[in-house]
This record gives sequence, C-alpha cells and structure tokens, in this order.
Amino acid sequence: MNLEVIILAAGQGTRMKSAKPKVLHKLAGKPMLRHVIDTAMNLSASKIHVIYGHGGDQVKEEMGHLQDVDWTEQAEQLGTGHAVQQVLPKLSKNCVALILYGDVPLIQQKTLESLIATVNDKQMGLLTTLLESPTGYGRIVRNDKQVIQRIVEHKDANQSELLVNEVNTGIMAVQSVNLITWLNNLDNNNVQGEYYLTDIIEKAVADDVTVAGTITEDEIEVTGINEKVQLQQMERAYQLRQAEYLMREGVSLADAARFDLRGKCEVGQDVSIDVNVVMEGRVKLGDRVAIGPNVFLKNVEIHNDVVILANSVLEQAVVGSGSQIGPFARLRPETILSENTRIGNFVEIKKTTMGKGSKVSHLSYIGDAELGSGVNIGAGTITCNYDGANKFKTIIGDNAFIGSDTQLVAPVSIGEGATIGAGSTITKDTPNQKLTLSRSKQITIDSWKKPVKTKK
Ligand code: UD1
Ligand code: CA
Repeated sequence: MNLEVIILAAGQGTRMKSAKPKVLHKLAGKPMLRHVIDTAMNLSASKIHVIYGHGGDQVKEEMGHLQDVDWTEQAEQLGTGHAVQQVLPKLSKNCVALILYGDVPLIQQKTLESLIATVNDKQMGLLTTLLESPTGYGRIVRNDKQVIQRIVEHKDANQSELLVNEVNTGIMAVQSVNLITWLNNLDNNNVQGEYYLTDIIEKAVADDVTVAGTITEDEIEVTGINEKVQLQQMERAYQLRQAEYLMREGVSLADAARFDLRGKCEVGQDVSIDVNVVMEGRVKLGDRVAIGPNVFLKNVEIHNDVVILANSVLEQAVVGSGSQIGPFARLRPETILSENTRIGNFVEIKKTTMGKGSKVSHLSYIGDAELGSGVNIGAGTITCNYDGANKFKTIIGDNAFIGSDTQLVAPVSIGEGATIGAGSTITKDTPNQKLTLSRSKQITIDSWKKPVKTKK
C-alpha cells in the first residue's frame, strides 16, 4: 500500500510572538516544517499533504516548489480532526495515512517506519510517550488488558485519567479507508468545542480495529515547539546529537556545546574541530583537517591535511590538500585552491582559482582572478576587478612574484615568472620572466622645513 503523509501546520503559533508562521522558524538552519517534509520524503511517501492556515502565503513561498507536496488550506482552525478533514477529498482511498505535525520537527524516520509497520485492515498505529509531568497532553486510556481504548484530552479528563502519564504524541498511522469513515463522523462535543483527531481512537475500537501503541522513549523526537525558549532548547539538543554523531565518526571536537552544524557534514579520519565553529549547507572535510576556533564554513570542500586557523570565513570554496588558511582569512564563493596553497591574515579571495603552492600571505584582495602555480602575492596587493559597472579578470602566470602594495587593474595578465615591483599600478599586460614596475621617481626636497605650531 502507498503511503501518504498528512502534516498539520495550520496553527498560528501565537506564543512565538512573531509575524512569521511558527513552522517557518528555523531549527539547525532549516524551517521546522522542512525537517518534517524531508523526513516524509525519506519514507518514500507517494504524496505529502501539508495543511496550512495562518501565514500560508509565506509558507508556500518558501516551500511551494517542493515536488510531491500538496497544499491544503484550513481557513479556520477548528481542531486537529477538522484539519485532517480538509485533506480527505484528496486522499487516496487505499493508502496508509501517516499524520505528522509541522511543529514537531525532530521525529525520526526509524520510529515512523516501525509505526507504519503496525498498520493493517484490522490495526492502526499510535505513537505515545511517557512523561513525568503530562500536563496539557491527551492521556492514553487503556483497559485492564492494557489495550488502548481512547484518548482523553487534558481539559476533558477526570481525576483518575489525569494521573495517567502515557500521553498522545499526536502521531498516528492508519489505513485511509478507516480514517475517512471515522473523520466523517466526528463531533465537537467537548470542553474546547473542537473537532478532535484523537476521537478516532474510540471509533477504531468500536469498529474492532486494534490500536497498536508504539511507545517512544525519546522525548526530543516527539516534542512540539510552541515558543522560542523551547526552540532554543531543541536546537541545543539537536546540535548535541549531531556533535556526538561526529565524535563517534572519529572527529575530535573541543566542545560539543560550542559546535553548530546547520546542514550536513561529511568527515574523513582524524579531523579536529576547535570551539565555536559554525557550519552551514554541505561541508566536506578530508582526512586530518584541523579547524581552529571561531571558524565559519558554508558549502565548502576541504581536502586532506588542510589547516584552517582561527576566525576564518569560507563560503562555497574548495581548498586543496595541504593548504593553510587564516587566521582571519575570507574565502568567498567560487574560490578554488589547489594543493599546498596559503592564504594568510586579512586576505579576501573571490571567484578565483589558485594553482599549486601559490601564496597570498597578508592583507590582499584577489577577485575574479586565475593564478598559476608557485605564485607569490605580496602584502597589500589588490586586483582592481570592477570599474563601477563591469567586472574584469586578472590572469597571473606560474611562478610570478607580485611585489607588495600592487594594484592590478583588470583586465590584465602577468606573465610566467614575471616580477612586479612593489607599489606598482599595473594597467597593461606584463611579459614573462621580466621585472615590470610603475613607480614615480623618489625625490627629496632639500629646502623643506618642518611646520611649527603658530602661537595665538
Ligand atoms: C494535541 C492532541 C493531544 C496531544 C498533543 C501533543 C488533539 C485533540 N489533541 O493537543 O492529544 O497530546 O497534541 O502535542 O489532537 N492544528 C491545526 N489545525 C487546527 C488545530 C491544530 O493545524 O485546527 C495543528 C497545530 O498547528 C499543531 C497541531 O495541530 O501543530 C496540534 O495542535 P494543538 O492545538 O497544539 O493540539 P494540542 O491541544 O496540543
Ligand atoms: Ca501542542
């Protein structure tokens, strides 16, 4: 049977105190709802239905492009049962429907797979958990044979029901034929006057469909986020898990509490990461890569034996093996460095390729350039790549030596093995193996006198 996932995301999220719909708030750099959609995709769902309400335009603007995701509006929020009712006309009649929540972002694929495995014509699956303080949650009511009978919401519960600490996570899996029948017979005769999804449990029991409870011990994966404090707590819990995962893969992490991964990180052997390192997007680290403190890496590929020193920022760059970057270096998008290159402090490199062993050691800006191998760029060198309207390229041949404080006015090319004298402004191409410089003559004014302060 096909699987269709229904994600409830219509709630306003008033407690987030934000103009943004709750499910768009980010956990580990990704909107909460996107975490849930990605998990649903990993389950190979044939369709993912998202029920949106408040701020739906914003949600669709960010995620409307996703394939296999179908959007259904719940204009008025009349309860979780009412929310799922909105999608029934679109739901296939012979699928397994899995119900998830846009504000429960860390639900795990494995847990859902075992929940789905409990579903057949005579059985539905319900994910529950045990909480020390179950206040606010729906309680699981079992009979004396421990078979689930119904769910009672906190506000509707009597004294003995309130003592139950097995609670409803809200996540369930059920054959769509059954779901459609039961939801079509829902009423709102309860304290809150809402259409409760949880009422289908009682209806299942009445129709001789067994409710198979799966109890998860992992509170994090079923925690719903209602306010910023919880969002931050979940962020830390999630980051800690990622850090522990990387350490189990062999990474030496200076402090798991001071590490943030907002995306995916692939690591080689014997990687070490110092404190306050933030990674975003896709980060690939080769063997023996060492990352210093306060480094930011976004969508980068770092090859073996690279050292990245403190306070460096690298985005959309490839760093060849044996290279050393930083401290205080910035690699901007489309930077590709070959093996054994060196980028020193206060150097900015943009849209530039650098050959083997080339060095830019201090205080330079190199943009839109192609450097051969063995090039040495002196301190304070600037590629003047932009004339205020267009960008132009600088080409530097193998083994060229650029003296300090040189301006290379692009488009310009420097020949192989050429040397450029310090302080030059180079506006024309320079030949191979020759010294080129542009420098005004040095003079000394003999008659000059140091000014003295005039007395008033
Ligand atoms: C619900 C469950 C409760 C469970 C708890 C777990 C019901 C009746 N109760 O309670 O048993 O213990 O979740 O967190 O289902 N939503 C909509 N449209 C609506 C109402 C809600 O999309 O009309 C969405 C919300 O955005 C939220 C989710 O459904 O993501 C749960 O709604 P909420 O109002 O938080 O339900 P609870 O009262 O917490
Ligand atoms: Ca809730």
